[in-house]
Amino acid sequence: MVNSRFVVIILAACFSFTFSAIIDPQSNDYSKVQRRSWEQAIAMAKSFVGQLSLEEKCNMTSGIGGPCAGNVLPITRLNFNGMCFQDSPSGVGDGVLHSTAFAAGIQTAATWDRDIFYRRGVAIGKEFQGKGIHFALGPMMNIDRNARHGRNWEGFGADPYLSGENSFYYIQGVQDQGVVATAKHYICNEQETNRFYGSPYDKKRLGASNSQGYSANLDDKTIHEIYLWPFASSVAAGVGSVMCSYNQVNGTQACQNDKTLNGLLKGELQFPGNVMSDWGATKTGIESVLGGLDIDMPGGDGFMGSVLVQAVKTGAVTEDRINDMIVRVLAPYYLLGQDQGFPTLDLDRDAIGDNYKINRLVGTAGIVLLKNTNNALPLNVTTDNYYYIYGAAAGQSDEGYGAGSSPQHGGALYQGGGSGYVEPTYGIDPLTALLIKGRDAHLQMRYVTDQNDYRAINDTFNARGFGNAKCLVFVSAFSSEGSDRSDLYALNNGDQLVQTVASHCPKTIVIVNSVSQLNLEAWIDLPNVVGVVWSGMPGSEYGPAIVDVLFGDYNPGGKMVFTLAKKDSDFGTDISQTYNSNYTEGVFLDYRHFDKFNITARYSFGFGLSYTTFSFTQLDISKAGKGKHTASSQYRQHRIKSYANVAASKVFEPVYEITFTITNTGKVEGSEVPQLYVGFPAEAEQPPKILRGFERVYLAAGESKQVTLVLTQRDISYWNVINQKWVTAPGTYNVWISTSANNADVKLQSSFNV
Ligand SMILES: *[C@@H]1O[C@H](CO)[C@@H](O)[C@H](O)[C@H]1NC(C)=O
Ligand SMILES: *[C@@H]1O[C@H](CO)[C@@H](O)[C@H](O)[C@H]1NC(C)=O
Ligand SMILES: *[C@@H]1O[C@H](CO)[C@@H](O)[C@H](O)[C@H]1NC(C)=O
Ligand SMILES: *[C@@H]1O[C@H](CO)[C@@H](O)[C@H](O)[C@H]1NC(C)=O
Ligand SMILES: *[C@@H]1O[C@H](CO)[C@@H](O)[C@H](O)[C@H]1NC(C)=O
Ligand SMILES: *[C@@H]1O[C@H](CO)[C@@H](O)[C@H](O)[C@H]1NC(C)=O
Repeated sequence: MVNSRFVVIILAACFSFTFSAIIDPQSNDYSKVQRRSWEQAIAMAKSFVGQLSLEEKCNMTSGIGGPCAGNVLPITRLNFNGMCFQDSPSGVGDGVLHSTAFAAGIQTAATWDRDIFYRRGVAIGKEFQGKGIHFALGPMMNIDRNARHGRNWEGFGADPYLSGENSFYYIQGVQDQGVVATAKHYICNEQETNRFYGSPYDKKRLGASNSQGYSANLDDKTIHEIYLWPFASSVAAGVGSVMCSYNQVNGTQACQNDKTLNGLLKGELQFPGNVMSDWGATKTGIESVLGGLDIDMPGGDGFMGSVLVQAVKTGAVTEDRINDMIVRVLAPYYLLGQDQGFPTLDLDRDAIGDNYKINRLVGTAGIVLLKNTNNALPLNVTTDNYYYIYGAAAGQSDEGYGAGSSPQHGGALYQGGGSGYVEPTYGIDPLTALLIKGRDAHLQMRYVTDQNDYRAINDTFNARGFGNAKCLVFVSAFSSEGSDRSDLYALNNGDQLVQTVASHCPKTIVIVNSVSQLNLEAWIDLPNVVGVVWSGMPGSEYGPAIVDVLFGDYNPGGKMVFTLAKKDSDFGTDISQTYNSNYTEGVFLDYRHFDKFNITARYSFGFGLSYTTFSFTQLDISKAGKGKHTASSQYRQHRIKSYANVAASKVFEPVYEITFTITNTGKVEGSEVPQLYVGFPAEAEQPPKILRGFERVYLAAGESKQVTLVLTQRDISYWNVINQKWVTAPGTYNVWISTSANNADVKLQSSFNV
């Protein structure tokens, strides 16, 4: 412990200069509060708890009614005003007014830019803080194991390392504003189907929402190397809260699972904060308390709270455990200085500021260019004057913005649905933004947004003068918490729309506004489909973002965060319709699975084109050593915060540095995301390659930069199930620098021996 703290302080000194180059300390209004460590915060929480009666303490283990999605009991006698817990991961949700509908988690991940991860977290944190909300119910870090999972859009894609990096910087962005982040949903909540089920007796006794959840069954190696990984990164970041999920793990509900809560999270990862239940995920009282749940949300179910007084009196639960629960609930409050003039609660208060700017940046930076035949894109306003625009997904929904959690009524999608949805104050759809572009650049435009009116669509092709028009076809796919997608096809016969337009128009460009994976096979190879842009879930600045990309005002640089398959069965995993979801694929998920079975993807994980070209040279691998850090990497930045989990942060110490040079060999500025994939010795029983580093590098035309990616001990270790620890296998490690998980995109290759 003492040693690791010493190391961290040294690192803080070494990297403070790169750190400040990225973060503007003035941007952090909350910097005036006194920073505290977990140790200090826990001591303060203990002293507070020492002044509570047993009944007050027990009452605080359950949420109470109030203005927020979840509310913690105030103790006015001690000047404690209670705490407010509110959705969502992509902005302040639950229908509040004056809130920014941010680009979704999946879009943020697709930027592959840690600086953007952090700055989006800062902006989200500012809105929570400005409204006086203590706990933000995000980030969401369940892995995109099932392409049809209804909540994939809230998370960070199919890779645990990428998800971990996203979680880490999100948490620090939010917590730097004095708001507690909540890592969710712990753990293995990779489908919505059967998240509530049970016998008629259970449903009657517990209520439909309190009946059991399906069981995710998986082995020890898989949970460590895939599903626990982003939670481990979150704990290292210093996350204050973890939300346990609706499902069971190995046959035990996640909110009363001694192995996952007390064993993995609080034991192995040394998580000092609280475990809160997802809303309705508490199924029992005493079993949950003993299993590691600290606070039952939203409460009112009679499982925890005042009933625990009796449990203490009978000895079923010790008072020490009750104290531990409340210390864990309150420690994050002290940790982030919420006792020092935190704003009073007003959920509708306008704290938006100029967050539309960062929102537009995230939305734009996460757009992925998938196909660009003969440089059909970017569009050139001098030579390309005529445009047809098709598809309901180009325009506004029939029901304004509120369609987020109900069946979809067409229109451009800013986010998916459910508790993750943020009601936007406004949303600019692509059609509106295109018409404004048309006005400014004197473009001739025609559009049909009723995508079932094929007569009107066909008629457009007779328009005088439009012989060389570009055809922009917008398709979308929606999903929501509570149910999984029924298929991976575009909404409302979107495939037929593309096929029809492409049958008439030799310059068809498709824009895909999708929550997660989509099957593009019905039209992707049509020669008239000359461009495909994956716009993702870009938030309420969707229109300006897509226009900037289409016309080349922003050179796209986003990369896919999951694989697009040619056949749905190529994924090898699917939603389980039974009450068991067996993770029999083990660690072979997404590109790991495609690699293992040599399956050709339509578009690989990590893939994305640019309007410029890049070259890679001079790969060098060296052992990390004192004073040797080249500091060009963002990797080590933001690692050191007062609230970081010092013991857990040790895993971020660099052990190898991978250096290479990247050059923009084209005519326009742009960015590339070099991805570091590692191949392990056989002993590690790993997939052929695993993502273990990346950096988004922005380069002017002709510019070169040296990039250094670091490998930590954890990055080159595997979970040894016999010894129950991370072990580095001796042998040869292959290193590939690539621009996607497709082996054909590997640019540089080398190896080192351990
Ligand atoms: C604790 O909760 C019970 C049940 O809701 C309530 O009757 C009681 O007044 C509460 N006590 C305190 C000290 O808040
Ligand atoms: C689940 O069961 C498998 C197989 O027995 C075991 O390897 C694993 O450690 C268990 N994990 C949890 C979290 O219970
Ligand atoms: C657009 O086309 C014109 C005419 O061919 C050309 O001069 C100009 O460079 C092009 N603009 C861009 C941004 O490529
Ligand atoms: C529209 O055009 C397509 C392709 O040429 C054709 O198959 C379809 O029958 C037409 N539909 C109508 C309603 O005209
Ligand atoms: C999954 O595993 C459970 C428990 O081991 C078993 O009972 C069940 O049959 C399996 N289900 C499927 C769909 O394979
Ligand atoms: C993988 O598939 C490709 C294309 O079908 C084939 O050329 C190659 O030999 C296969 N490799 C292995 C290891 O099976």
